[in-house]
Amino acid sequence: MTIKIGSSVRIHRYAIGISIILFILFYIYAIREVSYLSSRFNNKQKFVSLRSLLKSSIKASKLGGIEIADVHNNYKNINIEIKGKTKEGIDDPVTIADYKSHCAMYNYLQTMFPTINIISEESKKNCDDVLSSSDAIIAEETIVFDDDVDGYYDTSIDPDDITVWIDPLDATKEFTENLLNYVTTMVCIAIKGVPIIGIIHKPFGTSDDTYWAWPEHGYSKNLAAIKNSIVNDDNDDDDGGVVKPILIVSRSHAGEINNISKNAIGDNVKIISAAGAGYKALEVISGNATAYVHNTLIKKWDICAGAAIITAMGGSVTSLTGQPLDNFGAKDNVSLDDGILATMKHHNWYLDKFVKKY
Ligand SMILES: *[C@@H]1O[C@H](CO)[C@@H](O)[C@H](O)[C@H]1NC(C)=O
Ligand SMILES: *[C@@H]1O[C@H](CO)[C@@H](O)[C@H](O)[C@H]1NC(C)=O
Ligand SMILES: *[C@@H]1O[C@H](CO)[C@@H](O)[C@H](O)[C@H]1NC(C)=O
Repeated sequence: MTIKIGSSVRIHRYAIGISIILFILFYIYAIREVSYLSSRFNNKQKFVSLRSLLKSSIKASKLGGIEIADVHNNYKNINIEIKGKTKEGIDDPVTIADYKSHCAMYNYLQTMFPTINIISEESKKNCDDVLSSSDAIIAEETIVFDDDVDGYYDTSIDPDDITVWIDPLDATKEFTENLLNYVTTMVCIAIKGVPIIGIIHKPFGTSDDTYWAWPEHGYSKNLAAIKNSIVNDDNDDDDGGVVKPILIVSRSHAGEINNISKNAIGDNVKIISAAGAGYKALEVISGNATAYVHNTLIKKWDICAGAAIITAMGGSVTSLTGQPLDNFGAKDNVSLDDGILATMKHHNWYLDKFVKKY
């Protein structure tokens, strides 16, 4: 009897002891787990990885491009709505492609980064009404990255300091006219109001037609190839000026810029008229044009990505009156009033000409 009682008491003590130890272990584990999870949660709220934002932005630009190409291939009648007249009085058509590209790009980035400000040219459209093409949904899984973005070191940024500008379809008018080489999709990451990372994607180019730059980190291979291909630069005159200025300007007001430029620079200036701010920025980077000049109002989603890439590649972009582009924050006006000057070299030489004569 006594032995039995004694062993049962001993078993009880063991059970209580083990329970207490298990409870303490569980308690320690639970506290650590909760603090780990909450720190992860807070980190996610407080900081955004620029590397993953860049990667997602590249993907967004390609998703938009897939939608645009899909509309081009499948719709016989591109459904044109008239959004209003631009300042130059030319119809600015909104197409199905515009909406579908916007919804693909905007929804993707918004889902990936719910805490950052995203501004798109097409902000009012309810995307629930715009079905994404099945092609795009399949392709989303299989988008190929031509560059190894993961290979670059990362930087974390407070999402309150980030504004993402989306242009879901640049050169809409030319898209409807089947002038597809001008068409681009663009994403731009502005930090504290300054365009920093730019992505320009040409949906109707070859497979590596996505251009991006991230200053002090790297840029896409196609931009590196362009930079390396510009070996001879004999365009400097003895006074630090430009021997052969080649301006690229908007098709819609080439005549006017032609006059302004001849006044400002002289008769030896060559003018290329083209469409799409993204297209024109790339032509300046490649050296096909020595300056991109725009003398009327321009929207920030048109110029943000090009400005970021040109600046990252060592060029300069300002207003045509020489003001820096530092007001690309979420609360800033979406319009720039004083024109644009974008160059890879001789920025002050051009500014001097235009500020004096424009
Ligand atoms: C350009 O200048 C010429 C000659 O001065 C003038 O006739 C023409 O209307 C001007 N064109 C534009 C678009 O300003
Ligand atoms: C620049 O010009 C060349 C030759 O005309 C052309 O092949 C190229 O596509 C142009 N643009 C860029 C961005 O290289
Ligand atoms: C933004 O700028 C445009 C062009 O200067 C102007 O018409 C508009 O009123 C401004 N909008 C706001 C909200 O300030």
